Amino acid sequence: MAKVLVGKTSEIGDGKITNVTAGGKEILVANVGGTFYATGNTCTHAGAQLHEGRLNGKELVCPWHGAKWDITTGNLNWFPQKLKQIGSYKVVVENGSVYVEV
Ligand code: FES
Repeated sequence: MAKVLVGKTSEIGDGKITNVTAGGKEILVANVGGTFYATGNTCTHAGAQLHEGRLNGKELVCPWHGAKWDITTGNLNWFPQKLKQIGSYKVVVENGSVYVEV
């Protein structure tokens, strides 16, 4: 498992979303109230880049058709049809930097 740098904690403020490509995977990283979460960045409905969506607390809203994802687990919270999970990744914060493990 590789630890990949996402950025400085100071660059990803509370309520902010960023993204990184690591290990060939598109990953979204969000700061919710000072805790960092990482999920897949591709909506499993039609492929939107989820980092272009918005956060509503711990819920991530897809920018295209409004699917609602749980940022803490990558599970679907709401959509008219069943969708595959986007997945989640472990986040490590060390010395003011944020890393994801892929
Ligand atoms: S692409 Fe995300 S809800 Fe359609």
